[in-house]
Amino acid sequence: MKICMIGTGYVGLVSGVCFSDLGNDVICVDKNKDKINLLKEGKIPIYEPGLSELVTKNFKNKRLSFSTDLKKSIKDSDIIFICVGTPTKKVGSSADLSQIYNVAKKISSSINRFKIIITKSTVPVTTGDEIEKIISKKNSKKKFSVVSNPEFLREGEAIRDFIYPDRIVVGTNDKKSNRILKNLYNPLISKGAQYLNTSRRAAELIKYASNAFLATKITFVNEIANLCEKTGINVEDISIGMGLDKRIGGRFLRAGPAYGGSCFPKDTKAITTTADKFKTNLSVIKSVIKSNEKRSNLLLDRVSKILNKKIKDKRITFLGVTFKANTDDMRDSSSLKMIPALSKKGAIIKYYDPTGLKKEFSKLKNVFHVDSIKKSIEGSDLVIIHTEWNDFKSINFKNLAKKKKFIIYDMRNIYSSSKIKSQGLKYYSVGR
Ligand code: UGA
Repeated sequence: MKICMIGTGYVGLVSGVCFSDLGNDVICVDKNKDKINLLKEGKIPIYEPGLSELVTKNFKNKRLSFSTDLKKSIKDSDIIFICVGTPTKKVGSSADLSQIYNVAKKISSSINRFKIIITKSTVPVTTGDEIEKIISKKNSKKKFSVVSNPEFLREGEAIRDFIYPDRIVVGTNDKKSNRILKNLYNPLISKGAQYLNTSRRAAELIKYASNAFLATKITFVNEIANLCEKTGINVEDISIGMGLDKRIGGRFLRAGPAYGGSCFPKDTKAITTTADKFKTNLSVIKSVIKSNEKRSNLLLDRVSKILNKKIKDKRITFLGVTFKANTDDMRDSSSLKMIPALSKKGAIIKYYDPTGLKKEFSKLKNVFHVDSIKKSIEGSDLVIIHTEWNDFKSINFKNLAKKKKFIIYDMRNIYSSSKIKSQGLKYYSVGR
């Protein structure tokens, strides 16, 4: 079985490389020539631990190839994964499906034998029906099958999540496609992954509902953290106490800044818009979105309180600016709201991120990138730990504070309050 991945973004590239590592012939296609040329040279356009090694290995043994020729790649393949972007539309909150439908049109004119066409991109319920309509204009329904197979990969953990998934969801009523896909995923199923076959629409909704539920869990614990701060309770005790109930589960109950990234903000908006279209009010998810949007301001208010409302000319350090650790992704990171707001109020900001300088801040007044943790902290009034990189977990603050003392605001609760306070430094965290 030959596999074609359309789109070499995060989803397509990671999944394509992992499928090739399982022994399949995979061709990754992208219309962006520069990207394909880079990949052919073994250069990876995204930061994802372990990805580069897997690309090199599978490219060398010729199971993995890269191309810009979409039609030929489709013709040469049996299974086609659509992995193009579905960003939020510029106007409104729904998903922009133009790239998906453009690809569907291209597929429709390149079907030379039976093809399984799979959406791996996150697409609203009924998108599969639309793709089927587009392709059936030029092809008999016997020549193709449209399936939904959402991905559940986390950035920074994507390879591990691909190899050891909790579940593999395949949405199709077509027995042949189901059999072929079960076979494709067999190496993962035999290691313990659950394989779930549902209707196509159900698979599409499982993806959105899962992301919306995880976003709800985080927002829930973030609001509980607000209450903890007022009542002198440690939110971590609450997360552990709640998480021990197997019906709740302990994961995704870490309080912190507003959730961000390329998925939760986009997908929570898109699912409520889809529901509105079907005259269903997803009020819980709508309030999650609102609560999360307010969260950066709430944390900024705390910064202001910590600095006795005197932000002008204060030297503030950001440790980590990406939306989470082990990624270079800045999309919807809460730092994008916080750093400009503090710079506007006259703060002088230095930031250090293990993935380097960010163009997003290059035009801001008094915002400087520095290339070491030490340089970023020296001379600072307030150190904000914004992202939970391992690099920030054992900083010798005592040493760094010898010349000048600073306050620490640990937005990820990396450190123990008592330990830092015993070093004579003022320390604030989230929900404790
Ligand atoms: C998320 C989902 O976790 C994946 O299952 C899904 O496949 C992916 O979206 C997608 O739709 O493609 P990702 O956005 O990479 O993955 O990152 P997460 O690890 O889920 O984190 C999302 C945000 O939630 C981050 O801002 C993170 O800091 C925050 N978070 C996460 C918390 O604040 N607390 C937690 O306990 C967990």
